[in-house]
Amino acid sequence: MQIGLSMKLALVTGGFLLLLGNAFIIHKNYNTEWRRYQEEYLKMVYEKTDEPQMKEILKSRSPRIEQLIITGFGKERVDRCITCHTGIDDERFADFPQPFRTHPRIPGSHAYRTFGCTTCHAGNGRGLSTFDAHGQSKYWMEPLQRGEYIESGCAKCHPAPYLNETPALREGEELFNTKACYACHKVEGASDGKLGPDLTRVGAKWPVEYLRESIVDPKANNIESLMPKMALTDDEVKALVIYLKSLTGENLTRGPVTSYQAVKRWKEQKPAEVPVTVESGRLVFEQKACVACHTINGVGGKIGPDLSVYGLQRTKEWMVQHHVNPRSLVAGSIMPDFKFSRSELEALALYLSAQKKLTVDNAKVYGLGGVE
Ligand code: HEC
Ligand code: HEC
Ligand code: HEC
Ligand code: HEC
Ligand code: HEC
Repeated sequence: MQIGLSMKLALVTGGFLLLLGNAFIIHKNYNTEWRRYQEEYLKMVYEKTDEPQMKEILKSRSPRIEQLIITGFGKERVDRCITCHTGIDDERFADFPQPFRTHPRIPGSHAYRTFGCTTCHAGNGRGLSTFDAHGQSKYWMEPLQRGEYIESGCAKCHPAPYLNETPALREGEELFNTKACYACHKVEGASDGKLGPDLTRVGAKWPVEYLRESIVDPKANNIESLMPKMALTDDEVKALVIYLKSLTGENLTRGPVTSYQAVKRWKEQKPAEVPVTVESGRLVFEQKACVACHTINGVGGKIGPDLSVYGLQRTKEWMVQHHVNPRSLVAGSIMPDFKFSRSELEALALYLSAQKKLTVDNAKVYGLGGVE
């Protein structure tokens, strides 16, 4: 078969274009971010080494993808972070800029070969650009955690009761109870609130920014939100966010049977019986975090009414029923319901009945006269 001139020309041009395309792809592959970091690293190690044999090895070494395959903790992870974070266990790189710097000492012994990186830091282990690996795409649900936020990752293996080495988790959990979050939200095995959504897996569902916003400005995502805006300092908000981010329902060191049993034991706990006295009523009021929303004698929150003269307003029977289920008496109430024992209900009613101290301030609140 004869091939015409124009056909020949087309073939030659086509071949040339193909070559050009290949050259472009090859160039792109050889000029990736991770290759540049590794070349830089190899050069630096070469300069730091005096051994001629080592120098020979380094000279012939070309950049390659390094990865850790972690199977010991939950689903298999492929962490390629050390492709760029090359100096991670090399003490000589303590003063170098990222991504070369030696890893800081952290409490406990967690060898990288066994633990990988994303177990603590989150991020996308397979990613080979900083953008991908650090999980910066808005579609990646587990962006890289750095600084104190790493503590939310520690909880996957060191859940409550939290280690001393994770102080933000400890503080966050404590605030969750003292700021009455627990009274509206369920966290499996830790709280049983029903007015707000279940937060057992909230950390896997939302990024840090959303969690912060939900606490600082509950009306941001839902203008009709029932959730009150609590008075919290910046540090308190941070600790709460770290705690919430740690709630993923995932537990890498505890099997499903152990987790199931722990939740079951928690569910079977009965509310404590207490002596029916004004003093133990005061303790219940304090421990159940009523003070997060109510003020008595100038101390407490402002979300619910001031209860300093509540003893003048309602009977004990009314109080008991209100505390069993606020919505049975006050339609649409946002006051949470608590699981009380009978004696706790009575002690609480005794304590509230004793609140009869009219002052200039609370008389104004209630429109009552007769100030002392
Ligand atoms: C393509 C190269 C590359 C890969 C892959 C990569 N990183 Fe990085 N990483 C960098 C660079 C560059 C920096 C410094 C700039 C910055 O902070 O974003 C950095 C910074 C960091 C920091 C913050 C350091 C600081 O001073 O705050 C952490 C933590 C981190 N990386 C963890 C990881 C983890 C975990 C992975 C794997 C999931 C990973 N990186 C994968 C390039 C990379
Ligand atoms: C993937 C699971 C995992 C993650 C994530 C993890 N650890 Fe550990 N940690 C372990 C295991 C397993 C041990 C026991 C190691 C041993 O005995 O050699 C341990 C041991 C420790 C110890 C020693 C005391 C003890 O209870 O055994 C401390 C302290 C510690 N970890 C702190 C942390 C901190 C802080 C973080 C977060 C920055 C963290 N860990 C993240 C699994 C994990
Ligand atoms: C057991 C948990 C744990 C594991 C596993 C872990 N890190 Fe870290 N990493 C931490 C903690 C804690 C810090 C210190 C955070 C802080 O205080 O800023 C940290 C800090 C860093 C930093 C910032 C260093 C600096 O000087 O500011 C980088 C980068 C980093 N880790 C990368 C990695 C890489 C890459 C891996 C895997 C090879 C890894 N980490 C594995 C817990 C861990
Ligand atoms: C009076 C009950 C109430 C209290 C107290 C309360 N919340 Fe909420 N919370 C809600 C309700 C209801 C929602 C549902 C969304 C809405 O109304 O906007 C919500 C939503 C949230 C969300 C968003 C969950 C999601 O998946 O979108 C977070 C996070 C949250 N609350 C955290 C907290 C924290 C932390 C505290 C304590 C500082 C707290 N809540 C106290 C009722 C409450
Ligand atoms: C999340 C905030 C919040 C918490 C926590 C809370 N309350 Fe309330 N409470 C309210 C609000 C708001 C009202 C008034 C309006 C309503 O019912 O929605 C209220 C109303 C009351 C009233 C007045 C009812 C009436 O109309 O006579 C009493 C008494 C009361 N709460 C006691 C308690 C006690 C006791 C606790 C702790 C066990 C508690 N509250 C915890 C928010 C809260």
